[in-house]
Amino acid sequence: MSFSERLIAWYRNNKRDLPWRNTNNAYLIWLSEIILQQTRVEQGLPYYLRFADAYPDVKSFANASEDQILKMWQGLGYYSRGRNMLKTAKVVQNEFNGVFPVAYADLITLTGIGEYTAAAISSFSSNEAKAVVDGNVYRVIARYFGVATPINSTSGKKEFQAIADNLLNRDNAGEHNQAMIEFGALQCKPKNPDCPVCPFQSSCYAYQHQKTNELPVKLKK
Ligand code: ADE
Repeated sequence: MSFSERLIAWYRNNKRDLPWRNTNNAYLIWLSEIILQQTRVEQGLPYYLRFADAYPDVKSFANASEDQILKMWQGLGYYSRGRNMLKTAKVVQNEFNGVFPVAYADLITLTGIGEYTAAAISSFSSNEAKAVVDGNVYRVIARYFGVATPINSTSGKKEFQAIADNLLNRDNAGEHNQAMIEFGALQCKPKNPDCPVCPFQSSCYAYQHQKTNELPVKLKK
């Protein structure tokens, strides 16, 4: 069984039922990913539901005022996310004929959408073969492969992205990426990872060398 097959089998048995996973609507996926950028799932979920209800499509979002958006954003912090979203919704409305883009190359041009978010939206909405790398993915890769390169160094970012690209199941990129994120969040947790019941235990570098607490490495800057 490949890494991805094992990962996806774990995911199907263990995943949380989260509303943005039951859609391939790029607008709703964008909404969820921006909310979740610096926010935990439990905290972000009610905000996602309120935004999706008040602004069910990009047109309604683009027509909202900044005051309305920031009011609904209240409590989430990092308000520039809300402002950038309004800017991006207007660009989609005016320059993409109101159709939220699903291609990585289009998404990466939009304000507030970086490499992680472009990979997430394109793979979740259209299965484009782009690997997501977030804090969860850094942790899974660092531990499983024993990669001690600092995750916040330039060479580390390249190295982890290359490994993630290699692991990606190109025929099922969306589910693979969701599974990487979920595995890092629920199983390969920062503290007290659930190694005794982990399907990767026998081939995990960190488990075999008792290094789960030392990986990943992050440089103090
Ligand atoms: N954090 C960021 N994106 C996420 C997703 N799609 N599911 C769960 N947690 C996430």
